[in-house]
Amino acid sequence: MTRISIVTGATRNLGFSLAQGLARRLDEDDVVYLTGRDSGRVDQSMRLLSGHRANVRGEVLDVSDREAVERFAGAIADRHGGVDIVFSNHYAVDRAVCAWRDIVRQGLAAGQAWPEWINIPSKIGQVAAVRVLAQQRRAEDLRRGILIAAISPGLIDTGASRQWLDMTGAPPPDEVAIPLLDLALEAASDAAFYGGLINLGRGEPGRFRTLVPWI
Ligand SMILES: NC(=O)c1ccc[n+]([C@@H]2O[C@H](COP(=O)([O-])OP(=O)(O)OC[C@H]3O[C@@H](n4cnc5c(N)ncnc54)[C@H](OP(=O)(O)O)[C@@H]3O)[C@@H](O)[C@H]2O)c1
Repeated sequence: MTRISIVTGATRNLGFSLAQGLARRLDEDDVVYLTGRDSGRVDQSMRLLSGHRANVRGEVLDVSDREAVERFAGAIADRHGGVDIVFSNHYAVDRAVCAWRDIVRQGLAAGQAWPEWINIPSKIGQVAAVRVLAQQRRAEDLRRGILIAAISPGLIDTGASRQWLDMTGAPPPDEVAIPLLDLALEAASDAAFYGGLINLGRGEPGRFRTLVPWI
């Protein structure tokens, strides 16, 4: 059976490693969509791919453009009838987090409800969004064997973190991608993961490391 995969924000770092890793581990009949918001960067990433067996297609997809996302979903449905694996890897943030970012930049965060360190609350926002979606879809998804989960990949040595954090010992994106790919390709129907936060960072115990379950 042909498997269809989509990776958002796949033009560099973890997203690129996930797209390339899927394309190497899937079969020739399978299709991997390497997507990004800029056509030049998508083309460049397509040229950088190596060792892939699956059919990789580059597509422009800006996830902050709702209509574009709906058009893309419709096109995937028309072409393939559905999708098997989606890595929602992009770092785009919603309006509330953007408003907070702006008050941090203006130096006005102290005295308001938001802290000045944007990283941790933005992750809480991402995990909460997954939980809301999971709550809406849980019964039907479990019936159909669909997994939705938040993944914490741990610290990755990429430009996104390098300017803020001490990256000593942080693994590169290709290494970080491995347990994420294992999870998507081998354990997708494990109901224990549904709606949870799966910690896959280096140093976490167990094959799929630790799980903060959905309650
Ligand atoms: N780096 C870490 O230590 C770390 C730790 C924990 C979690 N994470 C998470 O892991 C993911 C990947 O991290 P990373 O370090 O590889 O990030 P990155 O190097 O900053 O890459 C992020 C990707 O997201 C894309 N993107 C941003 N806005 C987009 C939009 N509106 N539509 C489509 N794509 C968009 C970027 O595309 P452009 O090229 O167009 O900018 C880029 O390809 C992120 O979700 C991040 O929050 C990272």
